[in-house]
Amino acid sequence: MNIYSSKVKKIVYGGDYNPEQWPEEVWEEDMRLFKEAHIDIVTLNVFNWAALQPDEHTYCFDKLDRVMELVRENGLKVCLATSTGAHPAWMARKYPDILRTEFNGMRRKFGGRHNSCPNSPSYRRFVPELVKRIAQRYGAYDNLVMWHVSNEFGGECYCENCEKAFRVWLRDKYKTLDNLNRSWNTAFWGHTFYDWEDIVLPNLLSEHFEYEKTQFQGITLDYRRFNSESILACYQMEADILKEITPDIPVTTNLMGFYPLLDYYKWGKAMDVIAWDNYPAIGEEAASIALTHDLMRGVGGGKPFLLMEQTPSVTNWLPYNAPKRPGEMRLQSYQAVAHGADSVMFFQMRRSIGACEKLHGAVIDHVGTGNTRIFREIRQLGEELDALGAQTLGAEVPAKAAIYFDWDNWWGIRYSAGPSQDLDYRQEVLNYYEALYAQNIPVDIIGTDDDLTGYQLVIAPVLYMTKTGYDEKIRKFVNNGGTFVTTFFSGIVDECDLVLPGGYPGTLRDILGIWVEESDALPSDKENHFSYEGKTYPARILCDILHAEGAEVKGIYEDDFYKETPAVTVHEFGEGKAWYAAASSSRAFYHQFMQDVCRTCGIEPLMKPQENLEVMLRKNENGSFLFLLNHGSGPLDVTMEQAGEIFPDKVTVAAGDCLHMEGKDVKILKYQEQEK
Ligand code: GLA
Ligand code: ZN
Repeated sequence: MNIYSSKVKKIVYGGDYNPEQWPEEVWEEDMRLFKEAHIDIVTLNVFNWAALQPDEHTYCFDKLDRVMELVRENGLKVCLATSTGAHPAWMARKYPDILRTEFNGMRRKFGGRHNSCPNSPSYRRFVPELVKRIAQRYGAYDNLVMWHVSNEFGGECYCENCEKAFRVWLRDKYKTLDNLNRSWNTAFWGHTFYDWEDIVLPNLLSEHFEYEKTQFQGITLDYRRFNSESILACYQMEADILKEITPDIPVTTNLMGFYPLLDYYKWGKAMDVIAWDNYPAIGEEAASIALTHDLMRGVGGGKPFLLMEQTPSVTNWLPYNAPKRPGEMRLQSYQAVAHGADSVMFFQMRRSIGACEKLHGAVIDHVGTGNTRIFREIRQLGEELDALGAQTLGAEVPAKAAIYFDWDNWWGIRYSAGPSQDLDYRQEVLNYYEALYAQNIPVDIIGTDDDLTGYQLVIAPVLYMTKTGYDEKIRKFVNNGGTFVTTFFSGIVDECDLVLPGGYPGTLRDILGIWVEESDALPSDKENHFSYEGKTYPARILCDILHAEGAEVKGIYEDDFYKETPAVTVHEFGEGKAWYAAASSSRAFYHQFMQDVCRTCGIEPLMKPQENLEVMLRKNENGSFLFLLNHGSGPLDVTMEQAGEIFPDKVTVAAGDCLHMEGKDVKILKYQEQEK
């Protein structure tokens, strides 16, 4: 499957290009440098609304016309943005309903970007007007390969229009106030609502005393869903117009990985292809970046995605903006490809001279030439991607293990009010992911609607919110021979954040064969311990105190009043097994635990694990592509377990051969299934 339509025959290479910030003489030089760097795509028109529509009744496309002609003449493909990520100043002055209201109730004035209220009637009127014109004007360009709606949708709004829309959304969801009162448990603290108009947005003026501290979980949880859907409706509004005018051009927008405010599974269903912006935090581990790529592949239903942005060198918004070290940009680009990316794109093509991104890295730096380390590295990667051509396009990642990650659960845990402020859902997911990653076991990240058949192992760390019916999905999966792993603080509430009564872990109790009676929250400087397979490991954050009800005890606590009670259990259920890890622990534990679990459920590593070496596999009709990524700065000697051809070296290797890799190097082994 080719995610761009048939116009693209390789991994596209380029990024955000803002010629509107430059005099036209510079454009020609840009074209020359792009060619030199093997750039073949530009994302245009990202923040251009003010120029395209100088007032309510005037549209002006002359400059964009010239840019579109120029890039076409120069053989560049275009990912064309709709410019709606920041509204013009005149619009904010004349139609202030377009401005957002913050969590503390403060109405904003004009400024910044990603600043429009998603439920503003003016926004919803002006956007389609603009988008229709853009699509009609540029839709027929044969080098147009992708629509880029707005930019990094996000944030939230607490204005009166949003409040009204929230009430409509709630009416639609609950139908009756009785139903709503029950779902939010409003009998608590005398919160019963007698009129839909009684309901106000949950923020600092109402239910919240801090951003993440609410006194009414139900309403806050619904506000999160409502806000995500309101913003998604803005995406959909544009996508519908684009689809109608150019049905063959895929439509996307750039997502942001583990972005807490938008339920990206819902977005994934609305997007033709997932695109995302990879800006790792300082010192972020390779496993954590890999997890985010896998999440992005997961929200797109496992299909390839676009790496829409990354910096070639520095960002400007971190406390310390260190440049990527030699080889690091190339390594991170291939890491994205290894996890499913079919593009390598940057922010930005030429470095601005003013405002907050003037010190952000770019393909062309302020010096204005190609004579920089960064440019040379970009050119080298450009040559390689040309040589790689179409081979990996559309390739899928064949994973037998899946980790469940869910936004509602994330919100539920964040707002839960107890039991521990140190509980971090993403971190608990990463703990399990990293243990599989370290063993070279590919993982799919899956959501509530994804099918479990086809997986041998499903892990759902901290499944606090066990949605109605999800227990049944797990029950069937295990019954049919699957292996399921979950942890402390699971099976606590349903999708309304109402406790599943009858003993924890609620509806998962029969599957896991345990009853959790209590939970011990340990401050960050305290640990309990447990023994597992002859070794002692720390028990941290939350220690569930439980009784085995049919499960076999595999690990026991060593300290405190619950000493010698179960800390790790496994339950034979139907044809399968269900594991429970009762506390958060150390990396050493997760590695051991996941090795044992994978062995018992028959999942084999792609290759023998080696420190600093990441191994990933993608497959398509051209063959299998085994990505070898050396994240260390020192060299590695890798013993091949499979014959094939090495990219970019074009040498063939046999099983048993030793492949030498320099620090930060990447090799891709291409082979056909039968070549063992
Ligand atoms: C985001 C935006 C870009 C740019 C970069 C800077 O990803 O989409 O417009 O601001 O950040 O890192
Ligand atoms: Zn609003």
